[in-house]
Amino acid sequence: MRILLASDHAGIELRQELVAALKERGVAYEDAGPQTRESVDYPDFASKVSRAVAAGEATLGVLVCGTGIGMSIVANKHRGVRAALCTTEFEARMARAHNDANVLCLGQRVVGAGVARGILEAFLSTAFEGGRHEKRVQKIREAESQG
Ligand code: RB5
Repeated sequence: MRILLASDHAGIELRQELVAALKERGVAYEDAGPQTRESVDYPDFASKVSRAVAAGEATLGVLVCGTGIGMSIVANKHRGVRAALCTTEFEARMARAHNDANVLCLGQRVVGAGVARGILEAFLSTAFEGGRHEKRVQKIREAESQG
């Protein structure tokens, strides 16, 4: 498993917290920045992570901005990406188990560090259930190609 993380300027501290959590857990990751607090545009970072996940270069992506909303909107424009904006561990578990989400979006101005760590842990440790959910995820793929 290899996790690719990125944020915008409004998500740097939470992203760093999540990097620390991955290090503690011994999970392979790559931190795609940004490394300074200079104002940046969240679509640039959302697209970078989304393209890597869609191409199979990363197993899962993690995106942090102020609310997580902008990141999730952009990520879900990318074919093959199923991004879930989560504020609770329950949502993170369901996003993996039922939706086979492959990008987790978080808002630094919404969730605290401890909650975010729990959300990340739930996202990483939950597998897609498949079964009745498989045909629904397939319909997401069809919606992507049909518009
Ligand atoms: C940046 O101020 C903020 O707009 C951005 O981080 C994010 O919340 C957008 O959805």
